Amino acid sequence: VSTTDVDLKPIAAGAAITVVWRGKPVFVRSRTEAEIKAARDVPMSELKDPQADQDRVKKDQWLVLIGICTHLGCIPLGQKATDERGPFGGYFCPCHGSAYDTSGRVRQGPAPLNLPVPTYAFTSDTQIRIG
Ligand code: FES
Repeated sequence: VSTTDVDLKPIAAGAAITVVWRGKPVFVRSRTEAEIKAARDVPMSELKDPQADQDRVKKDQWLVLIGICTHLGCIPLGQKATDERGPFGGYFCPCHGSAYDTSGRVRQGPAPLNLPVPTYAFTSDTQIRIG
């Protein structure tokens, strides 16, 4: 199938799930207020791949990313609360140490680009359709 529907209701604040879309892992994370604020407060000048958080989300609470490191394609850690999330609190790639922030933007390590945002839309307040 070319689209994947995701019910957001079971995802508690601060929690995340991984779904598969077109054979790729897609990370869906319910951000906390602190995570949203951290993403918004970063000056563009500190970003290797400058993108405003507002341009990477459709609703502040929901971060939706393709979960493939933009360096050499490992799957970053950070979906589970017990995972290593790296120094910027988002995701950490254990392969060569790239660290991503709470907007999925690369902040450290060899990854050249932010984690991509897939095409998706809200089909209701509590459901998205990816693809
Ligand atoms: Fe993620 Fe190299 S594949 S840092």
